Amino acid sequence: MSGLKNYLEYDVRAYFEQFTQFEGKSVLDFGCHRANFVRFKPHGNYVGMDIKQDTINKNKFEFPQYKFEYYNGYNYMYNPTGDEELNLKNHYDVCVAYSVFTHHTFEEARDIIKKLKEKCGEIYLTYFSNKDKFSYEAVCWFRDLQPNMWEEISSHEVFYLKTNKWLWTFYDDDWLAEKLNGKWKTTSFPKNDVRGMQRCLVI
Ligand SMILES: C[S@@+](CC[C@H](N)C(=O)[O-])C[C@H]1O[C@@H](n2cnc3c(N)ncnc32)[C@H](O)[C@@H]1O
Repeated sequence: MSGLKNYLEYDVRAYFEQFTQFEGKSVLDFGCHRANFVRFKPHGNYVGMDIKQDTINKNKFEFPQYKFEYYNGYNYMYNPTGDEELNLKNHYDVCVAYSVFTHHTFEEARDIIKKLKEKCGEIYLTYFSNKDKFSYEAVCWFRDLQPNMWEEISSHEVFYLKTNKWLWTFYDDDWLAEKLNGKWKTTSFPKNDVRGMQRCLVI
């Protein structure tokens, strides 16, 4: 996994193309960060949304052809003082969320997803599975944590790996799919690729 610690650019669109195609569809990239969805291939009808104002500003400068929206939403890791409710004005054919709900509690995720569902035809979101020990160990390696929680993680339907700075949520695949009324999918990307570490829930 050498190089992965600094590797923050990866083709998010290619990850989701394992499960759907985007041509001709309006796309909401929820938790877009630095716009990895459009960084490798342009897309006609794309909106990126994030709770980090500086990130949204950078994206607007680097990709003036796309629309980026900021809202001051809460996230323990990324925006702990945020208190604005998500309020989507437009409809989208597809919403993608790569590695966003991995950093929310189940209750937070459920409430946000309910709102996304009102405006988005389909939602593709990624999560960490409690069956995937390699990904857990990769998280530990990435953040210099001792990988000593796997027994706990793998025996719970939902487990929060929480430090004073970070939160990662691990789910039992079937439990999550049932709770959110979706279908879970494995990824075909190799384990040592960022995109090989998270499974996808299609709602
Ligand atoms: C691990 S990064 C992943 C970014 C991007 N999806 C990618 O794969 O390159 C998580 C991003 O989600 C954003 N985020 C977290 N919670 C959010 C929320 N409730 N609403 C919108 N964005 C959120 C963070 O600010 C951060 O930019």
